[in-house]
Amino acid sequence: MPKNYLEAAVGIAQEAGKILIEELSRPLDIRYKGDEVDLVTQADKRSEQLIVARLNKYFPDHAVAAEEGTGRETSSEFRWHVDPLDGTTNFAHGYPCFCVSIALARRDTLLAAVVFNPFYNELYTATRGEGAAFNGKKIHVSKVATLSTSLLCTGFPVRDRKASPNLQFYGDFTQHSHGVRRDGSAALDLACVAAGRFDGFWEFNLKKWDTAAGALIVEEAGGRVSDFEGKPYQLGGPVILATNGLIHEEMRAMACQISRRAP
Ligand code: IPD
Ligand code: CA
Ligand code: CA
Repeated sequence: MPKNYLEAAVGIAQEAGKILIEELSRPLDIRYKGDEVDLVTQADKRSEQLIVARLNKYFPDHAVAAEEGTGRETSSEFRWHVDPLDGTTNFAHGYPCFCVSIALARRDTLLAAVVFNPFYNELYTATRGEGAAFNGKKIHVSKVATLSTSLLCTGFPVRDRKASPNLQFYGDFTQHSHGVRRDGSAALDLACVAAGRFDGFWEFNLKKWDTAAGALIVEEAGGRVSDFEGKPYQLGGPVILATNGLIHEEMRAMACQISRRAP
């Protein structure tokens, strides 16, 4: 039995990571959740099956919200947010930017978080009040103080792509920074802000399992996570802005300006 929530989540993420690596070398079994862009693979399903089974065993009272729908409701105030494979499109194309993302919340407060990229063996962790770590070493957000010298990241939804306002934001932020990357895994994007690899990240309409772990890791690494109005980010809210804190207001001001202009 693991010592604490974080130790449990780390062990489970590493086990799930092994499944993802195993599946990576197998012929792909892709299914589509709607049109031909929203993929789900055998890897998503096998990873989720393992994670949910372990969580049920260790914490039989806790609720589990897992992307592929095999979690469960309970009356507990503890809830695990599970993305068994964040970056499915990357995975399906063999681009090694994907991860397992697991976080525990008590009501609205995130307590423990793990984002694990099994391809590179990169493990990002955080426990509320105890800081964030990368492969066991404490991490801190970057010290880049201006938008014009920052490296940013964003993502685009696979569903309702035409309705997304993000191309406008992508264009403007690209012109006012060192560049905007689009890596295809929101959980890793957030973890990279925590580790100082990116200075800021934003995206629209992410789900709770996409952001729960990454948001806590950013905050525990000294960064800031809000919506475009500067209010604390609510899990599953319509927009997330996560930065090193230093460029937060500058990014927010530009985002508000673009929102006013956007059709
Ligand atoms: C997706 C990734 C991607 C983001 C999409 C998400 P999935 O999650 O996080 O970066 O832009 O909005 O749906 O489908 O690979 O778990
Ligand atoms: Ca996801
Ligand atoms: Ca997923």
